[in-house]
Amino acid sequence: MNAQHTDPQPLSIVILGASGDLTQRKLVPALYNTFRKQQLPDTFRIVGVARRDWTDAYFKDRLRDGVKEHSADSFEEETWAAFSERIGYVRAHLDRPDEYPRLRDALTDMEDGPANRLYYLATAPELYEPACEQLGRAGMAVEEGGWRRIIIEKPYGHDLASAMHLTASVHASFREEQVYRIDHYLGKETAQNILFLRFANTLFEPVWNRRYVANIQVTVAETVDVGDRAGYYDKAGVLRDMFQNHLLQLLALATMEPPACLDADAIRNEKNKIFQSIRPIALSDTVRAQYEGYRASPGVDANSQTPTYAALKLFIDTWRWKGVPFYLRSGKALAEKSSSITVQFQPPPDIMFNLGEQAGFTPNMLFICIQPNEGVTLRFETKEPDSAHSTRTVDMAFNYGHTFSHRRLPEAYERLLLNAIAGDPSLFARNDGIENSWRVIDPILSGWEANPDASPLRTYRQGSWGPNAADDLLARVGHAWRRGCTEDSCPV
Ligand code: BG6
Repeated sequence: MNAQHTDPQPLSIVILGASGDLTQRKLVPALYNTFRKQQLPDTFRIVGVARRDWTDAYFKDRLRDGVKEHSADSFEEETWAAFSERIGYVRAHLDRPDEYPRLRDALTDMEDGPANRLYYLATAPELYEPACEQLGRAGMAVEEGGWRRIIIEKPYGHDLASAMHLTASVHASFREEQVYRIDHYLGKETAQNILFLRFANTLFEPVWNRRYVANIQVTVAETVDVGDRAGYYDKAGVLRDMFQNHLLQLLALATMEPPACLDADAIRNEKNKIFQSIRPIALSDTVRAQYEGYRASPGVDANSQTPTYAALKLFIDTWRWKGVPFYLRSGKALAEKSSSITVQFQPPPDIMFNLGEQAGFTPNMLFICIQPNEGVTLRFETKEPDSAHSTRTVDMAFNYGHTFSHRRLPEAYERLLLNAIAGDPSLFARNDGIENSWRVIDPILSGWEANPDASPLRTYRQGSWGPNAADDLLARVGHAWRRGCTEDSCPV
């Protein structure tokens, strides 16, 4: 992981669909920051490709506004001036096959010699297949004189069948080793830290199993609502948008076996075993809900059945995890933006202090705070001073802001772009991983459709923590959602 580029050859970063939001909000601010930190190769250029009739100057101005807005703390005029000299714009209609040879020639002219090329597919998802096909036809995937890699944004398919279809089109032009399927959660510093926390320490791993763990919870809560993304979101819903990718990836990092080494395939093999070991999820172990007012949002179907929230209970049938419940939840328009993994441990076998759960006994918990308040907190019991037997629940906290205060946490896209440039796909999804995660999600989607009463669509108040049914899902077996990643437990 975290490879550095060592290749002295010039690099072209070609953003296909560069007029969209992603380029301005995420990609170019990330590239600007890596340039500022001198992490990019010495000779690189960024070429934006889109159908709008823009000049280089206009394109650069838009990107400058994007960096100023989305990376305000690191914007410097002088650095921007040096960075923007490397930016160009090529107008092309990516839905027209005859435009690709022209694009190829324009790139070859700019490069004026051998160069590596990183394509970034930031177009509408409908264009992923034709764009891959045409890049192949135009000879733009051939690795002569330099490598050719392609980053594909999510959504990667709509279900298993469409994901497989997309892979077939991608593979018609690019070998799997050339393909980098992005899941920006894997680029988050705190998500990368999960494997380090587990496997660079001796403390946690011996208790990281069914003997000591009562349950594990993954929460990705958002305060934002559907906003202006109804066109995409109303067809996708929360399972496709968040679970198939981000939540299952976090779950895999928290539960996979140690890889033999940090090689991308070794890591992805272990993740795959987790996806393959997830027992089919009973519809009665799913909760789906829509926030009040969702159907009135512009672009949303007035009778939409799309869930904006879901909670799942699942089991991983391996020796390590057999019988341990995993609870996953995510939703929009919730009370807080916070993503975390909570490991709740079993109570001690014998509690000599005469405290049961009823009397307020709190089991040990480890909170991995993905965002915000990034950090790790261990919650445990301690004797209250000056008392005979009273205990108090206390937190031992590591917080990134505190410990690494001199450094700002990089944006997920910075690490992902650098790794793709360095040829390290360990933080990207492999085709079989994507397919296996769709195999977990598809039966729930079809089950909800075929048998809606088995898990009725509920509603929840905006600004709440979701429907009561999600609490009941855990309460049935005496569990409860635990929140530890607050400013109190991880003080900034
Ligand atoms: C995206 C989803 O993948 O992740 C969005 O499409 C969601 O709906 C976003 O808002 C959340 O990402 P982050 O980094 O803000 O937690």
